[in-house]
Amino acid sequence: MLTQPEANRRAIWTEERLQRWLNAFFRGERIVVLANREPFIHDRTADGGLVVRRSSSGLVTALEPIVRACAGVWVAQGSGTADQLVVDQRNGVDVPPAAPQYRLRRVWLDDREQRGYYYGFANEALWPLCHRTFVQPVFRSDDFNTYHAVNARFADAVRDEAKGASPLVLVQDYHFALAPQMIHERLPLSTIVAFWHIPWPSPRDFEICPWAAHLLKGLLGSHIVGFQTPSDCRNFMDAVESTLDADLDREQGVITYAGRKTIVRAYPVSTEWPSQWASQSPPIDACRESVRRELDLDSGVLLGVGIDRLDYTKGIAEKFLAVEQLLESRPELVGRFAFVQIAEPSRSCLQAYRDIRAKVMTTAERINARFGAGSYRPIVLLESRYEPQEVYRFLRAADLCYVGSLHDGMNLVAKEFVSARDDERGVLILSRFTGAARQLIEALIVNPYAIDETARALADALGMRAGEQSRRMRRMRSTVAEFSTYWWAGQMLQDAARLRQRRRDNVAGRDLGFGIRDLMDQIPSPESRIPHTRHPLSPPALARATDRAARPA
Ligand code: F6P
Repeated sequence: MLTQPEANRRAIWTEERLQRWLNAFFRGERIVVLANREPFIHDRTADGGLVVRRSSSGLVTALEPIVRACAGVWVAQGSGTADQLVVDQRNGVDVPPAAPQYRLRRVWLDDREQRGYYYGFANEALWPLCHRTFVQPVFRSDDFNTYHAVNARFADAVRDEAKGASPLVLVQDYHFALAPQMIHERLPLSTIVAFWHIPWPSPRDFEICPWAAHLLKGLLGSHIVGFQTPSDCRNFMDAVESTLDADLDREQGVITYAGRKTIVRAYPVSTEWPSQWASQSPPIDACRESVRRELDLDSGVLLGVGIDRLDYTKGIAEKFLAVEQLLESRPELVGRFAFVQIAEPSRSCLQAYRDIRAKVMTTAERINARFGAGSYRPIVLLESRYEPQEVYRFLRAADLCYVGSLHDGMNLVAKEFVSARDDERGVLILSRFTGAARQLIEALIVNPYAIDETARALADALGMRAGEQSRRMRRMRSTVAEFSTYWWAGQMLQDAARLRQRRRDNVAGRDLGFGIRDLMDQIPSPESRIPHTRHPLSPPALARATDRAARPA
């Protein structure tokens, strides 16, 4: 594990470094994060007590360490059954509950707002629009109007929490495309950074949205718009070019619209490093033993894991088909290999989610009926939500982790698997359609739609020699250590700090005009700042690489 002195030597972003940096550059300034999902959820228990749960969302995984480091405020939707019981008069509560470090401000939505804003426009329109999974987006005017009204309510909450005229506001994800412009209207001196966690579609796909121009204008209310990959940045710039009357400087990644400039940058999101969950976990052997015992598996059974929300973008049924093909082509693995899929229930009131759940269940049942015997089932489907500590126990117990998203902005489970494996063992199989595949190039990179190819990758992973596993895992661990969530936040906040300084200089009359050229000299272009932007291995190159790496099980 990377020690603090080593990190200092390599100038790596750590929680400590981010904290020092924030104190130096944002001392006394309010940092407000706007994100729909709250990091802590208070629920009532059956016996009338109260329980606090952590949210398992990837966005929370990335963002929470940052808000802790800057003692800021997180504005989110209140979603727990006991959330209202614990807030102060201004609907806020200090968290984490055991040792408070920042404020959580809750916004209450009624059922109609939740249906139109969250289930409707965010998850039936924008989610399928941005993910290439062939699920048709549903565009309803009522949903869009509610989304607009709810974005305005959250912008009001940000203004109320600002504590001054010029806070730094970090707007997160597709729930809040309209909020940046609304926040700018309410707090004209604020610095606004929007980050889009999911993919940005191609301009041809994006233009089917009846409110395409509204979404772009909303986001261009930000000073910086961040995406996961350079290709998301390009898609966004293409969409602006074909939809709005805007000036684009593609080389510098700057859009000028309605007299204002917005910088467009890729900042690949990540997890904390070192992981608090890995360091609190039992030793690897203990995890292996306890998971196998719990699942009633023989101690010698090889174990694969998948951890996803039960979502049609995650390719869960395709993973099961790959397991089926593996057992078909390698009958000696029947009874010797099991794949455990944790599937967290999600958005289950939407038809597309009920459909994918039915498909996942019937596929697992069919394969288990075909290859199961006695207590052995090749696919163990755990349809439940697990606390991070439990997730890490599974990740540490596994011989391989398969992330098979059909399309994914980043996918933090891939990075969590790497950060969980301080024994430098275990093989990551990773969909080429994730943002993570651009950084974790030592994983076995696959096309999750190509079942033959993914079944072969499973066999290769199970047969990979220990030395090769360590070589790959060590490199991936060094990537995740260096490009952690502190690096992610550090890049965005540094860019925001430079912008603020520039705007202050302008106000003081030191530099009339925006001075974007000077600024851009300090902010490198999208491609130059992204680690490992090599394309994932092509299938033939992958086959060659895995042939070299793997030996029969
Ligand atoms: O992938 C983007 C993201 O916002 C994640 O951060 C999060 O896990 C998910 O989408 C949203 O999930 P939910 O609808 O449960 O908040």
